Amino acid sequence: MSTFGNILFDAPADGIATLTVNRPQKLNALNAATMNEIERALAEVEENASIRALIVTGAGEKSFVAGADINELAETGPAEAVEKSRRGQRILRRLELMSKPSIAAINGFALGGGLELAMACTLRIASPNARLGQPEVKLGIIAGYGGTQRLPRLVGRGAALELLLTGEPVDAAEAQRIGLVNQVVPQEQLLGRCRELLRKILANGPLAVGLTMQAVDLGLSSGIEEGLRYESAAFGVTAATEDRREGTRAFLEKRQAVFTGR
Ligand code: COA
Repeated sequence: MSTFGNILFDAPADGIATLTVNRPQKLNALNAATMNEIERALAEVEENASIRALIVTGAGEKSFVAGADINELAETGPAEAVEKSRRGQRILRRLELMSKPSIAAINGFALGGGLELAMACTLRIASPNARLGQPEVKLGIIAGYGGTQRLPRLVGRGAALELLLTGEPVDAAEAQRIGLVNQVVPQEQLLGRCRELLRKILANGPLAVGLTMQAVDLGLSSGIEEGLRYESAAFGVTAATEDRREGTRAFLEKRQAVFTGR
C-alpha cells in the first residue's frame, strides 16, 4: 500500500476502499500535491482486484473539500491554468469511468473542485451540515474540473446555471431536492450508509453493474441512439455470462444468487 501526505487511503478486507482528503486545517482544499496523490490512489483502486468499490470523503467534521487551493490559483497564469484544468479533468474522468462504483461521503463543504470531485463519483450521500456550490465566479474564474458539464447533467440546465452563475451554495436538503445528492444522513452514520449502499451494489452481478455504469455514461456523453445501441449489445453480452445463468436460476429456485463476475 502506498503512503501519502495529503490523503489517507485505506483498503480493508471487505473490498470497500476509502480515500480521505486530509488537509483539515485548509478545509481539505485540493492543491497540486493532493491531486497527484488522488491520481495515484485511483490507479491503485483500478489495479488492485481486491478493491471493489471506493468511498471518497474529507477529514474532520466541517469540510468534504472546500475547492481547489486558492493560494495556487492566485499565482496561475493562462497557459498553466489550461493545463491545470485539463489535468484535473483527466483525474476526475478517470474516477468517473472506473468500472468500480464510488460514493462521495459529503461531510461538510463541497465547493468548487470539491463539488466537482463529488460529482465524478457514481453516487453522493451528504450529512445535514453539507454546503454544496460552485463559487468560482465569485473569484473571477469558472469551474475547471468538469463543473460546467457534470452539474447540468445531474440537476438540469436551469438549476445548474443558478448554482454556477450566483456562486451561492445550497444546503444538503436542497441538494437532495434537486438531485445533486442521493441521500442525507446524520454525519455519524455517513460512512456506514455509504458502505451499506455499496454492499447492496456489490451483491449484484458485477459484470451487469459495470455494463450499466458504462451504458449510462455512454448515452449521456454520446446521445440516445449510441446509448441505446450500446445497451442492446451489453444486454447481449450479459446473456452469455455465468452471472445471468446464476441470477435467473436463483430467482426461480427462490434463493439468493451467488455471482462470480464471469
Ligand atoms: N483554498 C485554500 N485555502 C482554503 C480554501 C481553499 N479553497 N478554503 C478554505 N481555505 C483555508 C482558509 O484560507 C483558512 O486558512 P487559514 O486558517 O490559514 O486562514 C482555512 O482554510 C479555514 O477556512 P476559513 O475561511 O477560516 O473557514 P470558514 O469556516 O470561515 O469559511 C468557507 C469556510 C468554506 C466558507 C471558506 O473557507 C471559503 O469560502 N473557502 C473558499 C471556497 C471556494 O471559493 N472554493 C472554490 C475555489 S475554486
